[in-house]
Amino acid sequence: MRVKRPLIIGADGGIGKELTAALRVKGCNPLATTRRSSASSSGGPEVLYLDLADMASWTPPETADVAFLCAAITATDQCRKDPAGTRRVNVENTVLLADRLVRSGWFVFFLSTNLVFDGSTPLCAASAPVNPRTEYGRQKAEAEARLQALGSSVAILRLSKVLTPDFSLFSRWAGELSKGRPVAPFHDMTIAPVPMGLLIQVLLDLAESPMGGIWQLSAMDEISYAQAALQLCRSAGYDETLVRPVSWREACPDLEHVPAHTTLDCSRLAQAFGFTPLSAQDALMRTLGDFQ
Ligand SMILES: NC(=O)c1ccc[n+]([C@@H]2O[C@H](COP(=O)([O-])OP(=O)(O)OC[C@H]3O[C@@H](n4cnc5c(N)ncnc54)[C@H](OP(=O)(O)O)[C@@H]3O)[C@@H](O)[C@H]2O)c1
Repeated sequence: MRVKRPLIIGADGGIGKELTAALRVKGCNPLATTRRSSASSSGGPEVLYLDLADMASWTPPETADVAFLCAAITATDQCRKDPAGTRRVNVENTVLLADRLVRSGWFVFFLSTNLVFDGSTPLCAASAPVNPRTEYGRQKAEAEARLQALGSSVAILRLSKVLTPDFSLFSRWAGELSKGRPVAPFHDMTIAPVPMGLLIQVLLDLAESPMGGIWQLSAMDEISYAQAALQLCRSAGYDETLVRPVSWREACPDLEHVPAHTTLDCSRLAQAFGFTPLSAQDALMRTLGDFQ
């Protein structure tokens, strides 16, 4: 790869961990950050300590290359309950970090979300006005705007739900269903899933030819969580009658906002890299094998 010494901010997270591993497989020598005190580099990438809650004295490494900002407080409920504390991490110090990196010659990739939109329309264009309805979405939208103001050395990649091999909801369902116990997925909440492997491939492609601005990645259509649970039954041979769909409006009426649509227009990726979005069904099938 052209990239030699990438920096992964938040290498313990779901995406950061996979990306760090993939970059190593590609022959890169990544630098990884952690906020955990037990950081160790033995046998792994070189690890730097960085806590986004308090990074006053942090200075970027001098070996400027490509940096991926994968650290954030991603729990929407935590953002709702502690808007000031989470905003410090997700907006203020993320922007401060990116500013320092760009000034030191780094190209910065920031991972954002479909929740910068209200989800009232499918396949939102990258240029559409943002309209977040959750605190998490508002923080991401503000971070995006301030990062874009840093110039062309910043790229934003908006993602819909990324499915990891250890996605806890599917693991829980598989555990229950395998014991003959029912599950109650939402029939009125959708995902436009992106398998982790596909996201990593897109990040590697982007890193090879860094271009600023906004990129978007999602499935081409959506599937409800109830449909996903049924698909899990079909692929693993569990009893489909154990899937008892419910409405989030009854089960979790306090949810801040549930978007009607979660798909994003991925045409810039298609034009730049010949990328073809997966259907939600195919994206799910690529991941479900890990839950049987
Ligand atoms: N996964 C998705 O479906 C998805 C979808 C859309 C956008 N995104 C975006 O993609 C990025 C990565 O998501 P993810 O799923 O990998 O999230 P994740 O698994 O929750 O990981 C987040 C990482 O951020 C770190 N972190 C949290 N607070 C920190 C702080 N104060 N200082 C330093 N690090 C801190 C966490 O550290 P610890 O491990 O020590 O807790 C963790 O390693 C996020 O920006 C997220 O908004 C993800």
